[in-house]
Amino acid sequence: MSMDFTIDTIAQAACRPKPTDESQLGFGKIYSDHMFTMRWTPETGWVEPRVRLFENLSLSPAALVLHYGQTVFEGLKAYRNPAGSVNLFRAADNAARFARSAQRLDLPPVPDDIFLEACKTLIELDHEWIPRSHGTSLYIRPTMIATEPYIGLKSSSEVLFYVITGPVGAYYPEGFSPVRITVCEGYSRAGPGGLGSAKTAANYAASLRAEKEAIKAGFTQVLWLDASRRRYVEEVGSMNILFKIDGTVVTPPSGDTILAGITKDSVLELLRSWEVAVEERRLTIDDVLSAHQNGQLEEVFGAGTAAVISPVGQLAYNDKTYSIGNGEAGPVALELFDELMGIQYGQRPDPFGWITKVDIA
Ligand SMILES: Cc1ncc(COP(=O)(O)O)c(C=O)c1O
Repeated sequence: MSMDFTIDTIAQAACRPKPTDESQLGFGKIYSDHMFTMRWTPETGWVEPRVRLFENLSLSPAALVLHYGQTVFEGLKAYRNPAGSVNLFRAADNAARFARSAQRLDLPPVPDDIFLEACKTLIELDHEWIPRSHGTSLYIRPTMIATEPYIGLKSSSEVLFYVITGPVGAYYPEGFSPVRITVCEGYSRAGPGGLGSAKTAANYAASLRAEKEAIKAGFTQVLWLDASRRRYVEEVGSMNILFKIDGTVVTPPSGDTILAGITKDSVLELLRSWEVAVEERRLTIDDVLSAHQNGQLEEVFGAGTAAVISPVGQLAYNDKTYSIGNGEAGPVALELFDELMGIQYGQRPDPFGWITKVDIA
């Protein structure tokens, strides 16, 4: 399905000043000049695809999304490459996951080519917002919300799809540093048959209280166990988790309680190509701790778009804290980080065809 987008001309006076100090970008605080919007109803399908000024939405206080959480989103990044164009990393996989999330939330799918075209058009128009220093990128946030005003539980018959972007800073401005994570014992994130496989607000709302308590106790993030028995390891707040145990990298398979991470999938592809043994299988927190006790737990790291790879230096469970390796980033985590960043920034070959190049003027 292809569609002609209406592109509004934005007066220079309406454009905001671009950040000048790229070391202060942080994450998620700054937005580029344009946004993409498109509306849906069952009668019209998707209509009014439009690139316009980034501005506040006008929404009824009764909009279904505000009460019942019918919404999905995605997160992907665009990177400047040495040839002067821009690299999008595995964007088609984000489009496919967005459609799967939408289906789970009973929202209409956005055709993949429109999703991708919206991202590319924003990159072209707002290319001056893409930061230049190593580790920085343009974060892209496609979102779908239920806009029908209705106080009552039902699927919305009015939906808005929009895409916003904004420059984000290097995740590790002071070098690749390990995080401390703690197993969440008091709360659950996603149950069997629930929303865990979808990128939807409710999963993150369910995690907020636990994250706050973890941060108060000196940790960076929470490691979630399965909701039924609190035994099986699932994932971290916004990353999938991998364990190197006696030479094999083990990670729980994505399923209805674990998001199918695109970074994790890339990590597994890379490791297989390096002939490192990998296993996608369920493992319990006791399996992890006994590997630690036997001296076989060589590395633990998270994988996700924001940090790419996040080495875990310490893991806490049941009031005990365990150091992983020597508490520093392990060699596999480091090599994966360098390789993925190299591919994303176009500094290393892309044997898997993960990059889509976007030309900018
Ligand atoms: C809950 C959760 N798990 C895993 C991930 C990692 O997914 P990806 O590698 O596609 O960013 C994310 C980030 O999007 C997430 O929010």
